[in-house]
Amino acid sequence: MPHHDLIVIGGGPGGYVAAIRAAQLGLNVACVEKEPQLGGTCLRIGCIPSKALLESSEKFYEVQHSYAAHGIKTSGVELDLPAMLARKTKVVDTLTKGIEGLLKKNKITRYTGTGRFAGPGKILVDSPQPISSADTTEAKSTELTAPKIIIATGSKSATLPGIELDGNYVGTSSEALSYDRVPGRLIVIGGGYIGMELGSVWLRLGSKVTVLEYLDRILPGSDAEIASEAYGIFAKQGFDFRLKTKVLSARADGDGAIVQAEGTEPLRADRVLVAVGRVPYTEHLGLETIGLTVDKKGKIPVDRHYATSVPGVYAIGDVIDGPMLAHKAEEEGVAVAEYLVTGHSHVNYDVIPAVIFTDPEIASVGQTEEQLQAANIPYKKGKFPFRANGRAISLGLTTGWVKVLAHQATDRVLGVHIIGPRAGDLIAEAGAAMSFGASSEDIARTCHAHPTLPETLKEAAWATFAKAIHM
Ligand code: NAI
Repeated sequence: MPHHDLIVIGGGPGGYVAAIRAAQLGLNVACVEKEPQLGGTCLRIGCIPSKALLESSEKFYEVQHSYAAHGIKTSGVELDLPAMLARKTKVVDTLTKGIEGLLKKNKITRYTGTGRFAGPGKILVDSPQPISSADTTEAKSTELTAPKIIIATGSKSATLPGIELDGNYVGTSSEALSYDRVPGRLIVIGGGYIGMELGSVWLRLGSKVTVLEYLDRILPGSDAEIASEAYGIFAKQGFDFRLKTKVLSARADGDGAIVQAEGTEPLRADRVLVAVGRVPYTEHLGLETIGLTVDKKGKIPVDRHYATSVPGVYAIGDVIDGPMLAHKAEEEGVAVAEYLVTGHSHVNYDVIPAVIFTDPEIASVGQTEEQLQAANIPYKKGKFPFRANGRAISLGLTTGWVKVLAHQATDRVLGVHIIGPRAGDLIAEAGAAMSFGASSEDIARTCHAHPTLPETLKEAAWATFAKAIHM
């Protein structure tokens, strides 16, 4: 019976990072992953393949719509969808192989199979294949033991009553990453992160995209001013938004699908993408065997060191509270590993950035205006548009702005929200500054290279406590 110091269940960004950090700190670690590829949802069927397709589809769109402005004539532009999808697969393969290599380098034993609790400190790995990378036997099931176990099993797509997922015409993001032809009409249920990112991919490739959103706005949870700006930009790009629309049912019908929403005629589409959130994935873990229960949302309750109510069992990432983001899980992976070895660790949950990889990108860190208002925190705000930034003008990417929110009395930065070119990269500076407790004046008085996009953050910071220079 293989024995380890630590077993990590799940090889996604939370699990594999926890395994690596624990191994770096000297533990004998096992990582159990049910899929042949490591990397979890993020790498296999989430963040990475969607970013590969977003990049390819943006190039396809740009070559037709933006090159002429740069004095470049193009003709005969054609889409080669199989090649675009093959590139996406290659990107995923490269990264999953990289993680495999990292596990080997850190001498982590990988078990391929579904892990479940067989008792305290015991995990049974069920597999149709050889289970261990270190083991050549054809064993179909093996029991592992360890005094410490981390659950990092992530999440799965949520669905709604009345929606009949058929894995083809009515599917989730997994299917929308691999449509074999561009749907003439795509209906997206849910105007959140996934709906807007994958909706953008197929819109750029030629689909007519209708987004059915239950709320009166898109991108719930993001700063309302940003969401409203994004709504206007996306509508101009061609998205057909139907807000305040409650979907009642969706099902495959012939070579397409039919969606029924409250108060409207049935809508017909070639494909339907269901993107109404994600739910923690804890089935088949045998939690009942060790007396571990989940809360109403299906999440595993943990203390501030990720310990569950069962001694020796920890949980991180999408299965616990907080935003379902790969980088949040990674931070928790490092923190739990360090806590197990050193007895201390810390994650600053006030500074977890979020990025939506649409065009333009949307990124934020810290609190929204609505959150500050709800908490009665006095704040001041500075904004600066990309249209007044030299680098943005030379790139031809002038849509959007940067908004800095700082405490009225102390000037400490409480939130930064960006909609515009490379927002996902720009937000890192804001996050770093906020981690060090920066004031808006600290950012404004930091010399920024010229001409660069981060100068917009500097200018927005100026506008928070004084006046922007270039406005
Ligand atoms: P989401 O929570 O962002 O959006 C789901 C949307 O569906 C909401 O706007 C909600 O109001 C709507 N909805 C719910 N029920 C509905 C109904 N009956 N009819 C119409 N609309 C309905 O969830 P999403 O987009 O599925 O993403 C899931 C998770 O994955 C998120 O937590 C997100 O953080 C993460 N993610 C992160 C990305 C990134 O970091 N770039 C990219 C994609 C996903």
